[in-house]
Amino acid sequence: MKEGVERLVTETGAGQWGTALALATAFFDLKCRVFMTRASYNQKPYRRIMMELYGAEVFPSPSSMTDFGRRVLKERPDHPGSLGVAISEAIETVIKDPKSKYSLGSVLNHVLMHQTVIGQEAKMQMAMIDRNPDYVIGCVGGGSNYAGLAYPFIQDKLNGKLAAEFIAVEPTAVPSFTRGVYAYDFGDTAGLTPLLPMYTVGHNFVTPPIHAGGLRYHGKAPSMSILVKNSIIKPVAATQRDVFEAGKTFSRCEGIVPAPESAHAVYMAMEIAKMCREKNEKKVILFNLSGHGLLDLGGYGEYLSGALPDNCEPKSFAFEDLPMMI
Ligand SMILES: Cc1ncc(COP(=O)(O)O)c(C=O)c1O
Repeated sequence: MKEGVERLVTETGAGQWGTALALATAFFDLKCRVFMTRASYNQKPYRRIMMELYGAEVFPSPSSMTDFGRRVLKERPDHPGSLGVAISEAIETVIKDPKSKYSLGSVLNHVLMHQTVIGQEAKMQMAMIDRNPDYVIGCVGGGSNYAGLAYPFIQDKLNGKLAAEFIAVEPTAVPSFTRGVYAYDFGDTAGLTPLLPMYTVGHNFVTPPIHAGGLRYHGKAPSMSILVKNSIIKPVAATQRDVFEAGKTFSRCEGIVPAPESAHAVYMAMEIAKMCREKNEKKVILFNLSGHGLLDLGGYGEYLSGALPDNCEPKSFAFEDLPMMI
């Protein structure tokens, strides 16, 4: 704002990052423009209204606001959008407007590092109950919430002070870690960003419209990708219905409705707990409840009525357009 910037522009999947930036810009009297993936825009109208309430302009992506959005819509008018496409639209907007700056909500290593306050606090909380985690679990879209929780504990693991296992959960519909390749790829679909070394299903992959909109990203953060590559973090994938079932069970036990993204972590925490029960083992399971699902009740309603598709597992990926294999 002091540098004369008038507007911040961003993408949002679930809408949580867009909401955060909308509020921050309201505090600083800046304008905010959010490209929200079209599937989420339609699934979660109240999330859009919340961003508008905080003063942001919100457009469903792909939109007709940008050249790239128009091109995508021409090729496929029913395109459900993806974080990659929304990032491209946000960057194109900024390139054309010197008074605007782009702000990315995940993926980049420094964004992950900002979130490590979560893990620092979790470590203090674990110390208060005099326990160490045996498992550290989180969902992964670009990687920010899980890195936030896990990296401070991984530091202890690498220093030989902790024996925990680290599990990153992604949707089977967008399986960059479990079925993708480790390559240099663009962070966005149009190819406007620098190349990033990461696990990816390819920047041209059209992510199925699952309700966990924040996990509909083709790649994963470089720093987390290297931890997976070196087997320090173990990736697993979960199907949409298993995830919503876990979210339902958690809601009934705790009274807290987890976001569909976070319900991936809940699902895996429950799987590990069941395994421990079968083996008669007592373990400490730490997982990140990255967001609430009170604006995702449409998705939960679909699940309760039996209308939610189980598994939009992709048959193929977009590896042919990868700029460089590693
Ligand atoms: C509640 C929630 N959890 C997780 C994510 C995934 O993003 P990341 O992997 O950057 O934490 C999102 C993204 O929108 C989200 O809204």
